[in-house]
Amino acid sequence: GLKKHILVIPGDGIGTEVTTWGKAVLEKIAKDFGHEFTFDEALMGHAAIEATGSPLPDETLAKAKASDAILFGAIGHIKYDNDPTAKVRPEQGLLAIRKGLGLYANLRPIMLFDELLNASSIRPEILKGTDILFFRELTGDVYFGEKKRSADNNTASDLMVYSRYEVERIAVKAYEAARLRGKRLCSVDKANVLETSRLWREVVQEVAKRYPDVETEHMFVDNAAMQLIKNPKKFDVVVTANLFGDILTDEASQIAGSMGMLASASIGDGTGFFEPIHGSAHDIAGQDKANPMASILSVALMLEISFGLQEEAKRVTNAIDKVLKAGYRTGDIADSSTDKSKILGTTAMGQKILELL
Ligand code: IPM
Ligand code: MN
Repeated sequence: GLKKHILVIPGDGIGTEVTTWGKAVLEKIAKDFGHEFTFDEALMGHAAIEATGSPLPDETLAKAKASDAILFGAIGHIKYDNDPTAKVRPEQGLLAIRKGLGLYANLRPIMLFDELLNASSIRPEILKGTDILFFRELTGDVYFGEKKRSADNNTASDLMVYSRYEVERIAVKAYEAARLRGKRLCSVDKANVLETSRLWREVVQEVAKRYPDVETEHMFVDNAAMQLIKNPKKFDVVVTANLFGDILTDEASQIAGSMGMLASASIGDGTGFFEPIHGSAHDIAGQDKANPMASILSVALMLEISFGLQEEAKRVTNAIDKVLKAGYRTGDIADSSTDKSKILGTTAMGQKILELL
């Protein structure tokens, strides 16, 4: 068996509820397969601001660096959403840990469970067979460029900036993955307008030469947003910048039926970081309504990517598949045909998944 130390950062809102089940799945997997997983916990986001004044306490970053993988929930609080003048914000914690751990590649697989074909607002015949892997660049772009307010407070700017090496390393990761999948890569940019996108396209064209077995397409982001809904099957691997990737993957979550189904892996120089793509959802927090599947699927990504445990990862995705096949749903993925008695809360769904694992 393997010995691994995992840092759990539940964060805010439903983050704490769903992460409980991600961790429970890790414990069950360790027991069943004879691994030794040890756990520690740390604060981030609103919870950390309340306790320490900082959205990413030094202690959390130190623990993160010392662990073999991180399971993260979500961060955010409505208090800040309604107060654009707040200087200290929960999101700064997430951005700082991404930067601090060098997590430049965010993998967001759009996995479609057949049972959920009707949970999407897109027609099943358009969706069926869709399998997309997004590579969202995660430590550059307008997210990390200089932010400014003019002295008179009437003008604001965020610098959109990319360096050649940043584009190259994410492109390489995406091409390597494309080579092992459908051998098609779509690079999404806005090269008709943005200088950063022109650099992006130039670098991707250079990297493409090293992967002649992969078919490369370049697409403008506005067109990509449209094509994702019109014909999602045409995509295999998509590689794009931080902001475009943030927006396109929320859109793509509707292909999978719900944000509650989408997991993600952030990787780069050091420890891998695994999290659902959904946020802290304060509107349903504390009500036992959140879908724990995105957290549990993030655990599957951790097992596969950080620990190289394919069989264990498969066991986890199979458990989700079994639960769905048995007709169980959380509210977000239920539709008019769902048996009302099979609509479960977070706890009952978590238990059901553990049972079938
Ligand atoms: C995400 C989130 C974050 C982002 C926020 C919370 C900073 O939306 O992980 O997609 O924009 O990257
Ligand atoms: Mn987002």
